[in-house]
Amino acid sequence: MIKVETGNISLIFQVGDNGRLYQRYLGKKLTHASDVNFLPQGTEAYLTHGMEDYFEPAIQILHNDGNPSLLLKYVTHSSRQLEAGVNETVITLEDDKYPVTVKLHYTTYDKENIIKTFTEISHREKKPVLLSKYASSMLHLNRAKYFLTEFSGDWAHEANITERELDFGKKVVDTKLGSRADMFVSPFFQLSVDRASEENSGEVLVGTIGWTGNFRFTFEVDNKNELRIISGINPYFSEYQLPANEVFRTPDFYFTYSFEGRGQASRNFHDWARKHQLKDGDKTRMTLLNNWEATYFNFNEEKLISLMDEAVKLGVDMFLLDDGWFANKYPRSGDHQGLGDWDETKDKLPNGVGRLVEEAKKKGIKFGIWIEPEMVNPKSELYEKHKDWVIHLPNRDEYYFRNQLVLDLSNPAVQDYVFGIVDKLMTNYPGIAFFKWDCNSPITNIYSPYLKNKQSHLYIEHVRGLYNVLERVKAKYPDLPMMLCSGGGGRSDYEALKYFTEFWPSDNTDPIERLFIQWGYSQVFPSKTLCAHVTTWNRNTSVKFRTDVAMMGKLGFDIKLEDMNSNDQQFCRQAVNNYNQLKPVILEGDLYRLVSPYEGNHTSSMYVSKNKQSAVVFSFDIHPRYAEKSLPVRLQGLEKDRKYRVKEINLMPDANSSLSGNDQVYSGEYLMNVGLNLFTTQQLNSRVIQVIAE
Ligand code: DGJ
Repeated sequence: MIKVETGNISLIFQVGDNGRLYQRYLGKKLTHASDVNFLPQGTEAYLTHGMEDYFEPAIQILHNDGNPSLLLKYVTHSSRQLEAGVNETVITLEDDKYPVTVKLHYTTYDKENIIKTFTEISHREKKPVLLSKYASSMLHLNRAKYFLTEFSGDWAHEANITERELDFGKKVVDTKLGSRADMFVSPFFQLSVDRASEENSGEVLVGTIGWTGNFRFTFEVDNKNELRIISGINPYFSEYQLPANEVFRTPDFYFTYSFEGRGQASRNFHDWARKHQLKDGDKTRMTLLNNWEATYFNFNEEKLISLMDEAVKLGVDMFLLDDGWFANKYPRSGDHQGLGDWDETKDKLPNGVGRLVEEAKKKGIKFGIWIEPEMVNPKSELYEKHKDWVIHLPNRDEYYFRNQLVLDLSNPAVQDYVFGIVDKLMTNYPGIAFFKWDCNSPITNIYSPYLKNKQSHLYIEHVRGLYNVLERVKAKYPDLPMMLCSGGGGRSDYEALKYFTEFWPSDNTDPIERLFIQWGYSQVFPSKTLCAHVTTWNRNTSVKFRTDVAMMGKLGFDIKLEDMNSNDQQFCRQAVNNYNQLKPVILEGDLYRLVSPYEGNHTSSMYVSKNKQSAVVFSFDIHPRYAEKSLPVRLQGLEKDRKYRVKEINLMPDANSSLSGNDQVYSGEYLMNVGLNLFTTQQLNSRVIQVIAE
């Protein structure tokens, strides 16, 4: 009997009489040791191809003698503490006919109720074996019904929530895009048992894979209505020849099992990410002004310096220079050329980035810079010099996604080059305080000049190459925060977020769309990772509405002050100030999603500090109906017997709050059982409410 447990979850395995490993239980923690003997045997934990099971296997290997089967038997297991509250169990399995070893790793985070799993595969056959399936994790559930929520979409339309009941057969959620891998679907899911998922009740398993490339989740309901969930790298065009004694380590799969709906599952992930996973998870985040939508490619030194003045006026921490500052033979005047040539464009920046760093310093703000180091425009010096560094099919016409191609990161020389882009900028301009690291193309023209006859390794080696680069960047510049960006939310996974402090969820900054997109990502990612900028998208909404939406994540601006009247500018300055005060609650507190935008014309979310001393509530009326009935919004997460003052903040200059019962003191009990009349019948109205214990 092998127990893998957190504070609330038990995952129990047992070795059968035949020596094979079975998953006997996954669910609420079983605390009475003797009960465990009554559990049914369950299904074989990590199913192999070629034996008696007729459904999707977790692993498939072709041995040297042409035998395609694998039969794994238990050999040993061990457990150890990694740090207080974090333990690892490793179960070792072997085939008794072939020298193949499979190690299943489970790391448990007691308090956060997260389990991290990965698999190591190795062998001692003479020649390489061919791995055609190699899951990170396989989990089994045996319940009446299963409801799967996926997060799919496209550019500017990311992480839409769709829930469906699963019935017999397979549902596969996967991506084959290679680099901008999550453009169509995000690497996480929610799986509710017995009934459709709910925010505050019901059992829901939430899982996510840490892999910045092709992933696959397979949900298969078998003939007995049992569900098998297989998660890992997408094996599509990724057969892997594994040499003897080399360990194939799968990416990490992380999951939580909540007994209080999606809300608790999200809070588990947020707590865990801040404490154990994110780069600088315990640190705060900088507000910024980005020039992308204010200028696109059309800027020069003077223009940028004037935008820095605007950043100072707004009171943000940093100015972020976006795309368009580099290349000379083919200046980056648009997205069709220059990518790959990382020298400053002389016409635009005659005094280089150094001048900008200095100016920012003089003005008392930080300076950040955009790069897209994994890519190349065919119209660039890099392409002319190093076509062998570019992923492209040798004997076919090239086709482009955003006029560009992907560099071959499986090649160590390319890894050095990509690392060198950051390293050179940091060496020349040590004052650079932030990078926005973009990635706008999927892998196209799929062929690596470097891998030659091992093309099916490309998708895997490319991601490993990226991690090598990121590891080097992190080792040399450990205090450098970076934003992960991929033409919007094309990259959003927890392995990348070991290297990045935050990510750009979408190029769509229409605040109404953002209410949905941020709602989607908030299911697994904490607010400090979700960059949210105030822009001119959807001018039908007020600057206040746009800012209120952006304040629910990591606040930034991507707008010219001249796009705002003086009232709006004054409001924004005050909002930045308010945000700085609220940062500890918004970035470090517990998120309670109160009313879903998917359910109607209004939405509301709140953040509560860990000590329940203060909270902030955001509410939005999108398109209410005439004279519609609206119910009070019941708050959550407060202490019932504590008294809280409720006060609307972030008001336009000179505006008064129209919230009934504003600036009054209520018990937590009242706020959580009766609630506040936050919603109105005004179109595109928003409110920010501070709740502070007296
Ligand atoms: C795509 C990003 O998502 C945008 O924010 C911007 O940086 C552009 N790329 C620049 O090309």
